[in-house]
Amino acid sequence: MTKVALITGITGQDGTYISKLLLDKGYVVHGIKRESSTTRIEDNNKEKKNVNLHFHFCDMTDYSKIIRIIQDVCPDEIYNLAAQSSVHTSFDRPEYTAEINSLGTLHLLEAIRTLGLEKKTKLFQACTGEIFGNSLETPQNENTPFRPQNPYAVSKLYAYWICVNYREAYDMFVCNGIMFNHESPIRPDSFVTRKITKAAVRIKKGFQEKLYLGNLNAKRDWGFAGDYAEAMWLMLQQDKPDDYVIATGETHSVKDMVEFAFREVGIEIEWEGEGLDKKGINAGTGEVLIEVDPQFYRPIESSLFVGNPSKAREKLGWVPRVNFEELVKMMVKNDLELVKC
Ligand code: GDD
Repeated sequence: MTKVALITGITGQDGTYISKLLLDKGYVVHGIKRESSTTRIEDNNKEKKNVNLHFHFCDMTDYSKIIRIIQDVCPDEIYNLAAQSSVHTSFDRPEYTAEINSLGTLHLLEAIRTLGLEKKTKLFQACTGEIFGNSLETPQNENTPFRPQNPYAVSKLYAYWICVNYREAYDMFVCNGIMFNHESPIRPDSFVTRKITKAAVRIKKGFQEKLYLGNLNAKRDWGFAGDYAEAMWLMLQQDKPDDYVIATGETHSVKDMVEFAFREVGIEIEWEGEGLDKKGINAGTGEVLIEVDPQFYRPIESSLFVGNPSKAREKLGWVPRVNFEELVKMMVKNDLELVKC
């Protein structure tokens, strides 16, 4: 029987990867998007319209519309990827962040329950490594205590617990994927990896003079979004629902990311100074290419993240295929083809 999936946030990076994966597996895919969004997967299918791909206009705050869509679509699997996903923005818009990330998740759970779909519809919840915050443990696994440090992480922690609660209280098939940073060539440049790869290419081609960044010493566990989409799907194919850390187990600083990306375009970066005065210099020419701008700092920051994906490896058979170096190469290669100005 053909499986039906509903994806919230289908317009985003993760929505694009999971919808492609599901369409390739023969699923009928329904995506929820806001009126204003266009999807990459839809753009890719413009000429040859995919008959298995359908869109619904809705917002995660609109419970009555969500319930109608779920009633019409009657999905086997829901992937909840819609989010206000920027940590930085969450300090400025904490309430909006909570509405989308926390209550939006509750809306899906309530809709499944109200429609009596508890035994039919499985839910994947995109949780985040940010819930570990200023963790006392490294690397972080499923048993590490949560110490969220920003409104985004707090909103996602509500979503995490409400999913666990509905799973236990109503015997629903709900999984939290506690996903660490995952990137790709279609990552928006409001996130640091794409901001860096795009800038490296633009500087190399003479379209940009400098790159301004925030905390260069922050360390993140960066994986490839395509690998993480596979983990999401695997979680919903198990006999029992559970929560899994999805990460590479490797960590790199923002500074490392800069060095790798610029090296890919043939520029060696040397560093001078400390703190706000730190500068990245083109070792070949002596030009200052990278400077620190305090506007990109966050009021508080979890400076080290690294996940332990052992449980996902053992129970799901999931391993990340693309390592950090390959990820940076892939993103720079894409930007070299894309960046015209
Ligand atoms: N965005 C951005 N811009 N981040 C910068 C900059 C800058 O100019 N300079 C330094 N950084 C640092 C941030 O302070 C952070 O430590 C790190 O780069 C990564 O920032 P982002 O790429 O914005 O991602 P994030 O770690 O805050 O959050 C991402 O990963 C989470 C999972 O760990 C997002 O995808 C979240 O939605 C996701 O949950």
